[in-house]
Amino acid sequence: MKSLQLSSIFLFSALLVDLTMASCAHGTYLHKRKLHYKRAEESSSSNETVKTVEVGKFGYIGNIGPTNWVNLSPDNIACSTSTQQSPIDVTNTSTTLVTAGEVKITIPDLEEAEFENLGTTVEVVMEGKGGKTVIPGGKEFELKQFHFHSPSEHTIDGEYFPLEMHMVHESAEDSTLAVVSVLFSISAQANAPSTPLLLELTPSLSAISTPGSITATSPLKFESLISSISSQALHTYNGSLTTPPCKEGLEFFITSQPLELDVLSFNTFKAVLGFNSRFTQNAIGQANLLTASAGSVATGETAKNGTGVVAEEKAVVGEKKAVSGEANKTVTAGGENAVASGSAGAKVITVDGSQGKAKLHETVKGLTGVDLGALGF
Ligand SMILES: *[C@@H]1O[C@H](CO)[C@@H](O)[C@H](O)[C@H]1NC(C)=O
Ligand SMILES: *[C@@H]1O[C@H](CO)[C@@H](O)[C@H](O)[C@H]1NC(C)=O
Ligand SMILES: *[C@@H]1O[C@H](CO)[C@@H](O)[C@H](O)[C@H]1NC(C)=O
Ligand SMILES: *[C@@H]1O[C@H](CO)[C@@H](O)[C@H](O)[C@H]1NC(C)=O
Ligand SMILES: *[C@@H]1O[C@H](CO)[C@@H](O)[C@H](O)[C@H]1NC(C)=O
Repeated sequence: MKSLQLSSIFLFSALLVDLTMASCAHGTYLHKRKLHYKRAEESSSSNETVKTVEVGKFGYIGNIGPTNWVNLSPDNIACSTSTQQSPIDVTNTSTTLVTAGEVKITIPDLEEAEFENLGTTVEVVMEGKGGKTVIPGGKEFELKQFHFHSPSEHTIDGEYFPLEMHMVHESAEDSTLAVVSVLFSISAQANAPSTPLLLELTPSLSAISTPGSITATSPLKFESLISSISSQALHTYNGSLTTPPCKEGLEFFITSQPLELDVLSFNTFKAVLGFNSRFTQNAIGQANLLTASAGSVATGETAKNGTGVVAEEKAVVGEKKAVSGEANKTVTAGGENAVASGSAGAKVITVDGSQGKAKLHETVKGLTGVDLGALGF
């Protein structure tokens, strides 16, 4: 059953992806922010402009979600092939422990900073603000921005946390990236003093509830955050960006003890962030999970006699596509308004690509016990 579902999903997602293909990876760490300016109102006589930031084209749910990032842009190939992907389950064996205080962070207090909604996260822009981190061995990194994920992307010994903050740094010397990752746990007391930085940011969230919007924060103080991070052992490992293009070579430094998060801040952050956490990746050095799962589809181990695997994937013609698959054969494709069909094992698949909208029709021949509801179409 599993392979039947997988093959359907595989074929279907290949189709949808072609329809939505766009080579956009904005809103990731590596792409420069794109700002837009426009007049506040068409009729406004003032010259006041509204500044917005371009939002990310990837997401966390459905066809733009993490299982399909590779298909949003050829730049994202590492998302499904790299064997050093983040986030991971953090344990004492999957990471190295760095003694408290060995990672040295300095961030000046700020009168304000830009706080923006990238569609995929909310981010405080720290470019040029003088934040620095020196890692063991003495290499120095500059703090560029920090942003949030909910729930946490990293887990510790299998446990997830309600919020994770990524402080993204770049080396001026060789442009490599280092991320100090701070995990938060809900505070036991309703009015417990929370991490001051979060209390300072929370009231600004209502001003950036819309993707693309930018506001200015209240004054930000970092002393308490830095002392919490510095007073505990950090887990370090070399992983990747947790967003497209999933580039390898990032050094993570992750808190081993979560910091406090008050209920109001958590609910406010969560309401704006939505769900924005990439699934836990395989241990560093092990097969990429997407390669591993696609492999079991493509090799057709269970394809014999009707469990249904499309051995070769899609072909594409024109803007609007239809795809058909037949076991062991390269698929055929039609162009605009095409309707194509094929079979995979005992399954008949018809894909209607007319009007650029994909519809997958399938009939299962000679199979018993297949739960069509479970296929999700
Ligand atoms: C708007 O800007 C233009 C060009 O800089 C200027 O000529 C005009 O007087 C400004 N209008 C207002 C209402 O400030
Ligand atoms: C990991 O190591 C730290 C420091 O030695 C220790 O406190 C912690 O209990 C260890 N965790 C596990 C799961 O062994
Ligand atoms: C991560 O990579 C850097 C640069 O190659 C290296 O210096 C460091 O020891 C690595 N860290 C771990 C935990 O393997
Ligand atoms: C597939 O089905 C055919 C005919 O029912 C049978 O002869 C053959 O042994 C089966 N092959 C496998 C791998 O089950
Ligand atoms: C598919 O390929 C396998 C392995 O090469 C072969 O045994 C099988 O007969 C082929 N099936 C079809 C439908 O051509």
